[in-house]
Amino acid sequence: MKNIAVIGTGYVGLVTGTCFADLGNRVVCVDINEERINNLNKGILPIYEPGLEEMVRRNMASGRLNFSLSYDEAINNADSPAEMVFIAVGTPEGVDGEADLRYVRAAAETIAETMKHQVIIINKSTVPVGTGDWVADIVRGKQPEPIAFDVVSNPEFLREGAAISDCMNPDRIVLGSLNRDAANKVAQLYMPLRAPIIVTDLRTAEMIKYASNAFLATKISFINEISNICEALGADVKEVAAGMGYDKRIGRAFLDAGLGYGGSCFPKDVKALAHMANIQGKHPQLLEAVMTINTDQRRSLVNKVRGLIGNNGAHLSKLEGKTVGMLGLAFKANTDDMRESQPVDIIRMLQADGAQIKAYDPVAMDNAGKQLQNVKLCEDVYDVAVGCDALILGTEWNEFKNLDWHRIKGLMRKPVLVDGRNLYEPAVMRDLGFTYRGVGRGYA
Ligand code: NAD
Ligand code: UGA
Repeated sequence: MKNIAVIGTGYVGLVTGTCFADLGNRVVCVDINEERINNLNKGILPIYEPGLEEMVRRNMASGRLNFSLSYDEAINNADSPAEMVFIAVGTPEGVDGEADLRYVRAAAETIAETMKHQVIIINKSTVPVGTGDWVADIVRGKQPEPIAFDVVSNPEFLREGAAISDCMNPDRIVLGSLNRDAANKVAQLYMPLRAPIIVTDLRTAEMIKYASNAFLATKISFINEISNICEALGADVKEVAAGMGYDKRIGRAFLDAGLGYGGSCFPKDVKALAHMANIQGKHPQLLEAVMTINTDQRRSLVNKVRGLIGNNGAHLSKLEGKTVGMLGLAFKANTDDMRESQPVDIIRMLQADGAQIKAYDPVAMDNAGKQLQNVKLCEDVYDVAVGCDALILGTEWNEFKNLDWHRIKGLMRKPVLVDGRNLYEPAVMRDLGFTYRGVGRGYA
């Protein structure tokens, strides 16, 4: 059993803190957001993450998981002083594409001002290479009197929507530190997970995180580029991905062509890595291409809609008088996180072309409503379909996988489906009487 403080109760802090508690440790999660902490103390979660609510409540009831606004309570508790302090605050995109480290700085400063005994400060946030050294300098500079500490980099690889399972069954644990003993102490915490543990230096650990995200983003842009070539040459990208994926050197994962990657991580992390390279005078050509292909993928879907239902009259903007329904608003299924959502971006492009928009998402509607204007948010898929000239499948929610297309066809003005997630088979949809376009599924 270890005593742990976790700074930040977002996707990473809340999930990892809860998992550490579930593994028998005593965890206090701290946030500066008062509403968040008050709600968490009542068992109300700030995010939608399957299975998390039950796990939080169970560990709160056992006394192993607590939430607080106070760093002092989390770090210096007399009965259970924290040996390890995890930083899991946001590192959003800054003005030039660099990672904005203001929250990491604030967390490091407050830890330094608060700690009364030796701790290991473990950075879980995704941070530019060199941040570990910078955090150490900040802590040293802010301590009222010198107290020994170590800094360990422990990047997190969980996915939203599958966060608990990823956290409890990680492919690997990466630990970077200048002090191997400190890294080995953190490794003990992870032993029950029986995952491979890589112990390396701080900078290498920080780079492993960016390189991993950038590689996954590259796979997605690669298959999206192939999907565009498939559309020109009459091949089916789904079968191409399946055929490639059987090769163990390639693997099938992250070869789903679609709307390109969205979310709070890939977009900002690929940009931040490219920014790091540029600052060092390197030209990150591949990363630049990955980002360009990703943005083009959203535009390409809008162009499909324009091609299928657009006005030809020069006096009208392309989609004036047309109603388009968006099924799904989240950047992927099983999350209500709306950061860098592709459906939201596509809705804005369609609106700029003059379209009226109706939309539905099983869980992200409240969050989406805060970002969207002039969109009719509907009760369900069938409510969306009424009077639409085209439907777009924007998120691969399970409940969109078995829809009553006969009913939907009867409700729409025109039976047009643009499937941004390749959930349906082109031939089946055509037999049902739909004009159907997927992504990379034969001639477009
Ligand atoms: P988030 O925005 O969901 O949560 C961050 C939390 O930190 C917020 O609750 C915020 O109030 C709190 N916070 C900010 N400053 C603070 C401070 N000084 N003291 C205490 N709390 C503070 O962020 P997230 O999605 O959990 O991401 C956190 C980090 O982990 C980022 O660097 C991200 O790139 C990385 N990451 C995220 C995921 C993911 O799936 N979301 C996965 C792996 C890594
Ligand atoms: C991603 C990584 O998968 C995690 O390992 C990492 O920890 C996290 O970023 C992070 O650093 O924050 P996440 O953003 O939650 O996790 O979601 P993913 O499942 O990776 O999907 C990202 C985006 O790529 C989604 O928009 C998804 O629809 C898209 N995607 C994914 C594709 O378009 N095709 C695919 O084959 C896979």
